[in-house]
Amino acid sequence: MVIDCLMLRDNIVESILGKTTQKRKSRIPAKLDFLQSATGLILSIFITLHLLFEASIIFGKDSMYAITKMFELDFFIEGGSPIFVSILAFIIFAIFILHALLAIRKFPRSYREYLRLRTHAELMRHSDTNLWIIQITTGFILLFLGSIHLYTMLTQPANIGPFASSDRVYSDMFWPLYLMLLISVVLHAGAGVYRLIIKWGWFDGKKPKENRLKNRKIVKIVTVIYLIIGLFSLITYIKIGYEHQNSYGERYKVTSK
Ligand code: HEM
Repeated sequence: MVIDCLMLRDNIVESILGKTTQKRKSRIPAKLDFLQSATGLILSIFITLHLLFEASIIFGKDSMYAITKMFELDFFIEGGSPIFVSILAFIIFAIFILHALLAIRKFPRSYREYLRLRTHAELMRHSDTNLWIIQITTGFILLFLGSIHLYTMLTQPANIGPFASSDRVYSDMFWPLYLMLLISVVLHAGAGVYRLIIKWGWFDGKKPKENRLKNRKIVKIVTVIYLIIGLFSLITYIKIGYEHQNSYGERYKVTSK
């Protein structure tokens, strides 16, 4: 009788504990998934604005200078201070690292696993699996290139401006890095935003199938537009850097006022 009671108690405890650990097991990945989506969304919004602000160089050196000074909060402090750029870079770097750590959970664990995934995508002609492959490949590249760029911005915030940036791009040979970074980040953000739209069912409306196809087209078009804007900016920085190479290190001063 006593043994029966003890067994019954053990069964109850086990089933309760089992349920709670099951609950915990199922909740944590969901929370991590949400955090990954949230950090990805923040970074996508950041890069969308970043590429636009940075494209100010296309409209002239004065425009880019004005944007640089705005980020140094010159409307708040006389002359502005590069420390605010460092603070922003630190925050973005922290989100970037968190996003990468969360994403690493889903990386293929071996080259064999990666190949299996690619074969699967080729056999199935499954476009969403292809998108995922684009994301892990570009994400891996971003880990290195994004970190170099963010570290530069964090530690040399005063070296941003029409001449300082162009000198870095051309004379310091940062343009190959920026070209790869641009392609990777735009593809990564495009694929990521599309997958977020599908995953959370945003804009599904009453006709999810049709709307998903529409959303896919819109994301593709925006991705191409961003690639073109980024390329134009980069070419402009290269051109200014080339013309400025003999005065390397000289800082820009507003002339038209
Ligand atoms: C707060 C953090 C950041 C700051 C202050 C910043 C600032 C800048 C600046 C000033 C440039 C112009 C070139 C130069 O001066 O070297 C640039 C270029 C670029 N940045 Fe950032 N950046 C930041 C974060 C990021 C992140 C997180 C990414 C993507 C992972 C990124 C991607 C790029 C790309 C692709 C270019 C070249 C753009 C083009 O070709 O038009 N940046 N950034």
